[in-house]
Amino acid sequence: MNDSQVNKLRDLKNRERGSGQQYLQKKNKRPTLFSVTSGKGGVGKSNFALNTAIVLSEMKQNVLLIDADTNLANLDILLGINPRYNLSDLITGDKFLNDIILRGPGGIDILPGSSGVIELIDIENEVKNKLIDCFRSIEEKYDLIIIDTGAGLTPAIVSYVINSDEVIVVTNPEPTSITDAYAMIKIISSKNPSIHINILVNLVDSTKEGDDVFDKLKLVAHNFLQFPLDHLGNLPRDSNVSRAVSVQIPFIIKYPRSAVSNALRLSARKLLRGRIASDSTRQNLFSRIFEKRESL
Ligand SMILES: Nc1ncnc2c1ncn2[C@@H]1O[C@H](COP(=O)(O)OP(=O)(O)O)[C@@H](O)[C@H]1O
Ligand SMILES: [Mg+2]
Repeated sequence: MNDSQVNKLRDLKNRERGSGQQYLQKKNKRPTLFSVTSGKGGVGKSNFALNTAIVLSEMKQNVLLIDADTNLANLDILLGINPRYNLSDLITGDKFLNDIILRGPGGIDILPGSSGVIELIDIENEVKNKLIDCFRSIEEKYDLIIIDTGAGLTPAIVSYVINSDEVIVVTNPEPTSITDAYAMIKIISSKNPSIHINILVNLVDSTKEGDDVFDKLKLVAHNFLQFPLDHLGNLPRDSNVSRAVSVQIPFIIKYPRSAVSNALRLSARKLLRGRIASDSTRQNLFSRIFEKRESL
């Protein structure tokens, strides 16, 4: 083949795929995976995950938000939406991820949760392979995937968390919440010593209160686990959160100038700046979750 024939062939291939360069970049792309978790329930994970997803989308990131809270899947309630399908339809039915994923506010995509997510971890190999293929086919579309995992130390939650690139542990200043956050950090760090853990202190009455909570956690994690923690920020207690929840509109949209929205923007920016560069050679998210699950 001479040079001009080679070029023609290359042009043809590039036309099939869009630009050749774009194709290569897309093919190697893997989204960064953030999981939002906590030791104790009701500390503000879902509100943080949802509003952060919207802020990051405003920062030109393609974001998928997954509701993986198996006890209290409630992103749909926060948004006032009634999803037609959820993950269990993918497992038991003939639905694909594109049928299930919804477009949410601010341009984010949402994968609604269900109690079926629990089964996600214990399903047959054939179905696992279908899920892995489905996720592989959509992963390239996203820069970031945020998983709202729910609270506590169930095997499913631990599996999501230890397979993430970045973990955000949400706590509030109450001693029970801090103790449970520490228990979570202890497990996560022992299962994946190279993971990056960020602490978000929610419901603070002052910046100092939040900083003190972080310092306490950092000290015990350093002394007893020799594990470093990063402070993602503090979110103030703000009545606009419950007001926004009751009208089912994310607070960042309903009250963009509120104290909690301003603080959340700072944390989101920090998260984006500090994110671990995604390693394109790593496996697809769900294949990692299923495979690591065996060793739990
Ligand atoms: N910064 C905040 N200020 C005031 N109320 C908050 C704040 N964050 C969360 N809340 C309230 O706490 C409740 C639990 O929040 P949610 O995000 O559902 O927690 P989780 O997902 O951890 O269970 C919500 O009803 C919300 O109104
Ligand atoms: Mg929740």
